[in-house]
This record gives sequence, C-alpha cells and structure tokens, in this order.
Amino acid sequence: MSKPIIKVENLSKRYRIGAKQEGYKTFREAIMDGFKVPIRNFRRLRKLTRFDEEFAKHKEHSARPTALPHAVAAMASSQSDDAIWALKDVSFEVQPGEALGIIGHNGAGKTTLLKILSRITEPTTGEAKIYGRVSSLLEVGTGFHPELTGRENIYLNGTILGMRKAEIDRKFDEIVGFAEIEKFIDTPVKRYSSGMYVRLAFAVAAHLEPEILLVDEVLAVGDVAFQKRCLGKMSDVAKEGRTVLFVSHNMAAVGGLCPGCIYLKEGCIKDFGPANSVILQYIGDFKSTKQISLAERTDRRGDGRVRVTGLRFLDTITHRPIESIISGQDVYIEVTYESYDSSPAPLNRVNIGLGFFTTLGQFVMVLNSEMASRAFGSLPREGRMYCRIPRFPLMPGVFHIKLTLVVRGAIADQLENVSVVNVDAGDFFGTGIPNDYRRQGVYVPHSWSAETPSVY
Ligand SMILES: Nc1ncnc2c1ncn2[C@@H]1O[C@H](COP(=O)(O)OP(=O)(O)OP(=O)(O)O)[C@@H](O)[C@H]1O
Ligand SMILES: [Mg+2]
Repeated sequence: MSKPIIKVENLSKRYRIGAKQEGYKTFREAIMDGFKVPIRNFRRLRKLTRFDEEFAKHKEHSARPTALPHAVAAMASSQSDDAIWALKDVSFEVQPGEALGIIGHNGAGKTTLLKILSRITEPTTGEAKIYGRVSSLLEVGTGFHPELTGRENIYLNGTILGMRKAEIDRKFDEIVGFAEIEKFIDTPVKRYSSGMYVRLAFAVAAHLEPEILLVDEVLAVGDVAFQKRCLGKMSDVAKEGRTVLFVSHNMAAVGGLCPGCIYLKEGCIKDFGPANSVILQYIGDFKSTKQISLAERTDRRGDGRVRVTGLRFLDTITHRPIESIISGQDVYIEVTYESYDSSPAPLNRVNIGLGFFTTLGQFVMVLNSEMASRAFGSLPREGRMYCRIPRFPLMPGVFHIKLTLVVRGAIADQLENVSVVNVDAGDFFGTGIPNDYRRQGVYVPHSWSAETPSVY
C-alpha cells in the first residue's frame, strides 16, 4: 500500500459549552484581520501563515495538541457539564486518490473533523498529519474574506494553496464560468447572495488543483443543477487522482461518489469501510434511534426566539397520536411551540415548514404554512399549530422530517430529523387495489379514461 496522504491518530476535540462559538473565522480570515491596509502582495501574506511555513519545512504539517496528553484517558470520566467531546479518539488513514464519504447524525463531529483537517481549529489531543495541499469548502461563510472581491478572493485562495499568479490566471476563467458570477467578479463577496457565494466557494475549492479537497454539505445549498455539477466536478477531481473527503447527509450522493466511507457517531468512528455497507449500518441505526425529546435537543439552528418542543401525527377522527401513517389516511400534524422572547406581544408573521426526506437524504415533499394558508398572523406565545393533510400522499417507507420555523422573516428554530415517520401501505386511491411500492415517492391524485375529455 502506498503512503497515506492523510493520517489521523487518536484525534479528540473538546469544546466548552457556552464558550464563544468559533464561528466562521478561518485561518485566512485570522491572517487578514491582522492587516488594516489593502493587501497587494499576497506572497508577503503567505510567508506569514503557519500553514505555509510548516508546509515548506516538512512538505507536511501537523496540528499539535494543545492540551495534556492524558486528556483522552481523562475524558471518559470528565464529561463535565460545561464541556463536550465533539471527537473522541478518532484514527484513520486515507490513501492518495481516495474519495471518502463521512456520514453521521447531526452533531456527530463531521464538521469538527474537517475543520481540524483544514487547520481552522486545533485538536485537543491527537494529531492529523497531512501530506498535501488542502482546499476546503466547509459551511457557507468559510474561506473567503468578505471585503475582497470575487477576483481578489480567487487569487488569495490560490496563493494560499501555493500557486503562482500565472497558474491562477490559467484557471481563472474556468472558475468564474463554473460559478456563473461573471458580472459580479469585481464586487466584494459580502454583497453576494448565499447562492453566488457558495457557487464561487465551491468553484475555487475544486478548481485550484488542491491535492486534497474537503467538502462539507455544500449540496444543501444551491439548486439541483448546481448540485449535479458539484458532484460531477468532485468526481472529476477524484478521477484525476486527487483525494476527496465529502461530508453529506445525502446518502445517494455519498454512495455515488465515494467507494469508502466513515460513519461517525457521537464523536467516535462507528464504522469504516466500503460505502454501501457503512451506509446500510447508518440507515439501520437511524430507524432505531430513540428520539430524545424535542425540547431537550441542542442541535438546532436559529435565533431561539420561538422553539418547537413537540411534533406528533394525529388521527383526524379520534385525535389520537399515530405511530405509523397509512398511505391515503387523513392526518393532522401537531406542532407544539414556546416563545423565549422577552416581549409580551403575541407572535406574528410566523411561518412553519416541514420537509420530508427519504432515508437516503433525498427531499420528497414539503408542507409550508405560508404557501398553503398564508403565514400565521397572530399566535399566542405558547401553543400548538395543526397541519391537516387529507390523503397522506407518501408511499410506504421511512421518512425523516426537517423543520424550519420562521418568525418575522428570520429563522427562529430549525431542526434536522425532527421526527422519523413510518408510512405503511394503504389504499391512497380508494380503489381497493393494494399499493405496496416501497419506492419512497409520492402519490398524486389522478384518474384515467379512454374517453376524449369534454371541453367546457
Ligand atoms: N465552536 C463550538 N463550540 C462549542 N461546541 C461546538 C462547536 N462546534 C461544534 N460544537 C459541538 O460539537 C459537536 C459536533 O459538532 P459538529 O458540527 O462537528 O457536528 P456535525 O457532525 O458536523 O453535525 P451536522 O450534521 O449537524 O453538521 C456538537 O455537539 C456541537 O454542538
Ligand atoms: Mg456539520
């Protein structure tokens, strides 16, 4: 076997809960913050990065542990209230040219792992050795300096990757073309829409010939056509013999791109091997996961002004909770919420959206209060919202639901996998003919006839 390009040894990362979030600051931004004058000479900047110094010295760079070496042994007993181990004793190797998927439930440590590999954050203990130039695309917001234009950011990123101006010049048009931002190339990226931003960020990360490409969840943003192009580009990068690490909740995308896969669970490697078997293990766990109560979940986004504390499916006649929905059955979804806003005013302009996803992470259906019935005008500060769905249209299978609650235009609460729902075969069309397609799709009401439709 050849020499690995990434070697991760006993990596652990502890975060303090309540400590200031590290946010989106990248090592590039940290460097940029040190300069108050416009930077013309990016070479000067390069010299100042620890990344490059180490890279030049060793052709490898390794993050040094900052805490006591005994921390791993201690952590089993020291899971104190104010600290959380996002990664626990993770070790693996990646060979050059490998495309490796990283999957796991929310909060499993996937982003933390990529942040350590791209030197945005340091491990608490352990080491990540990297024998190549890394380009990463983590959550939207990383990698670019907001004050600089698209053009300047492309050159900055290329320079950090050790490329010469002439090399970046050659790639420039391809990057701008892929990102479809020709018109805005000389606009500061802080003025970009999130779609433009992520398109440019992906184009830069994938085209600037990194030896290792790290991509986190980029497919969640952007339209379907762009998602396809990203997958195509990542597959090209892998075929060119470069190494790709791809974090995603979309199992179909991971399975299609990556022959191998790591499944992280609560900071540990639960499974590592051929993607197909690792994905099956993940899906199996997913179905059996006992959901902790919504009110206690901390893996949520949003400003927290209003929080969803419960979600149930109810029968429309008995109003009893339903364990499994039958295709074609009339159901209510009951959402319980509480407000944490200090103002005593009723809640207004509330919109709730529920997205249904297959176990492979493919989106199939949305329920949205504003689209269907207009946003709620005025709601009590605590209460329940009900959505009525006549003839539940999903085919038999297991689906998970993502919830987004928007109050006055800003996301107040957002939870992935807010609930997992099982749908059993039923008579959606009311014809008495059984439908048992386990295809994780939707039924639509329709009818057939051999008669020419009459014109009114
Ligand atoms: N800067 C931070 N400060 C404190 N805790 C953090 C920080 N970043 C992550 N965590 C915590 O570390 C754990 C792992 O988070 P991480 O973002 O790596 O998970 P993930 O697998 O990427 O999840 P997701 O699928 O939701 O993106 C979580 O419990 C998270 O709340
Ligand atoms: Mg993440």
